[in-house]
Amino acid sequence: MAEPQRVRELPEDVDTDDCMTSYTHIYSPDLLKQLKPYAACHHTRNIMPLTPNLSPFVSFRHGCDTVIASRNLEKLTEAAKKLMVATGRHCLPLTVDVRQPQTISAAVDETLKELGRIDILINNAAGNFLCPATSLSFNAFKTVLEIDTMGTFNTSKVVYEKWFKDHGGAIVNISATLGYRGQALQVHAGSAKAANDAMTKHLAVEWGPSGVRVNTLAPGPISGTEGFRRLGKDLWLPGSDLINMFD
Ligand code: HXC
Repeated sequence: MAEPQRVRELPEDVDTDDCMTSYTHIYSPDLLKQLKPYAACHHTRNIMPLTPNLSPFVSFRHGCDTVIASRNLEKLTEAAKKLMVATGRHCLPLTVDVRQPQTISAAVDETLKELGRIDILINNAAGNFLCPATSLSFNAFKTVLEIDTMGTFNTSKVVYEKWFKDHGGAIVNISATLGYRGQALQVHAGSAKAANDAMTKHLAVEWGPSGVRVNTLAPGPISGTEGFRRLGKDLWLPGSDLINMFD
């Protein structure tokens, strides 16, 4: 049987924390010039290669300064330096645990002090691993929901109250396609992202009148990245043990 197109045409492989060396603009390179996005990540190391062209790092490629926020300042600082070299834009690294609203609040205050405004919030924080439901501990399920779902709500609420309520803005929630059809070993992440998809619609309705657009982006697997190597190869590649098991 012919190999599916997605497997034949692998994009450039980005190793660990490295930025992509080339970038093809679909939109104007200065589309976001003058804007200030704030991106909440959970694991910079994993998120950056996982969504290299989509979020939040696409913002840099379109001419705006960006804040990246997650738990590990050392890794964030390293990532920020690489992003500034690759794009020529300013990147401010800030420590945040999206499960703790007070850390988000402090980071948003710092962002407003340093950059003066926030135009786009990208909720990118996620925790994930492959695990069958029967082996998943109660705490493991709760932890992923707390990071992915509560983290998205916490961050959105703080940014809305501190800035978007009076100035408008855009929220982009990074989702996943795992829950659309039910994916083995992913009940935790799929459930969390499904809740986020509902949250997107609720907040869009409630905050639309304040000039806030809320949207979801569900990129699906991106081959040639650390995330795909770690989570994806057993989920999506033809011939994988998992796919054979359910064929
Ligand atoms: C089973 C696991 C586990 C694993 C953690 N747990 N890893 N259970 N299999 N591989 C359980 C622990 O045993 C514990 O439960 C509970 O989860 C909490 O784990 P901790 O390590 O104490 O918590 P924390 O330090 O907050 O880290 C949690 C975590 C981390 C973020 C989930 O373990 C993790 O997986 N990090 C990887 C980060 C990552 O993948 N990020 C990118 C996601 S991108 P007990 O009962 O023992 O206390 C993404 C996009 C998806 O998700 C799109 C499709 C590819």
